[in-house]
Amino acid sequence: MGCGKEKILQDETYRRALQQEADYWGQEAQLAAAKGIPFSADMQRAERMQIFRGPGLPQLQSYDPDIERLMNGEWYERLFAAVNAVSRPADVLVLACGAGGLSLELARQGHRVEGIDISPKALLVAQRFADECRKREGAVDLVYRCADLNYIKLEPKRYDAIVAWDGLHHILRLYNLMKQISFALRSGGELIYSDSVGQPLLNRLIGGTIYFVLPTRVGYATKLRIAIQGLGAVQEQMSKRSPFEGAAEGNLYHLTQLRFEILEKQRHTGIGFRAAIAGDLKDGRFRYSFLKFMKRLDDCLVRYGWLRGDHLFLRARPKL
Ligand SMILES: C[S@@+](CC[C@H](N)C(=O)[O-])C[C@H]1O[C@@H](n2cnc3c(N)ncnc32)[C@H](O)[C@@H]1O
Repeated sequence: MGCGKEKILQDETYRRALQQEADYWGQEAQLAAAKGIPFSADMQRAERMQIFRGPGLPQLQSYDPDIERLMNGEWYERLFAAVNAVSRPADVLVLACGAGGLSLELARQGHRVEGIDISPKALLVAQRFADECRKREGAVDLVYRCADLNYIKLEPKRYDAIVAWDGLHHILRLYNLMKQISFALRSGGELIYSDSVGQPLLNRLIGGTIYFVLPTRVGYATKLRIAIQGLGAVQEQMSKRSPFEGAAEGNLYHLTQLRFEILEKQRHTGIGFRAAIAGDLKDGRFRYSFLKFMKRLDDCLVRYGWLRGDHLFLRARPKL
């Protein structure tokens, strides 16, 4: 990274953008946790809910644990299996852990888990669900820490596995973070993540069209507004709310393979709006069967190379 950008990272603009990032994700976590139990905070006890995000596009956010399991269950299972294969129990670090759902699940499986995120509010939610889990199910070894992954210094040889779910694409100084991760892993340790690597235009067009046509909880007037303004408008809204959204999507794989030997990599999730389509689809008798069909279709389109997956599941080991 050139000196110019490096300077921006350290100055007031960066500080403010990071604050906004932390506030946005904290607010999302708190809004959801005020409604019930979000999947992002507790995968096992999660409930269905709908959040009104205020003015802007999209306004509604739907959470449905059954849909989350249907769409992403396979990738969560692969991540858990990969951690368990490294060591059981393992010392696990969860990067950009947000409201803590993944960290809590790993701790439930008996691992010693540390979660890091920049949002103190999201971490408060995570802490609350960890405490509730302790009361209901007994001890879990789980701690949270608020820190900036752009500038983090990790303890050398401290972890057996370092994992991330949809968080690395927010990290601007990913080169630095990858270096830290490679030092922080013990011999035989693995970096395991599933993260956004950017939506190709074709995926966005297909996803956007399906979303527009289907009966969703978001009304046709709003969808028409989205269509007229173009999908770019949704992204613009998102980057106002979360300034680092997509910051590292383009070079995530490249920067990983500079420092790591890739053990497994698979692109998944072809239709970019799949999560929104799934979450917003109106209730009806065929809702879940339709979504199962969509998921199979999507998997086939990616497997046979008709669409490029916009997420990457990866396992890697530091290069010697
Ligand atoms: C898309 S959310 C994913 C949260 C969580 N991994 C999940 O799947 O529910 C992105 C997360 O990255 C965190 N984040 C963004 N920039 C960060 C930074 N520089 N350091 C640490 N965390 C950061 C945000 O606070 C947010 O919780």
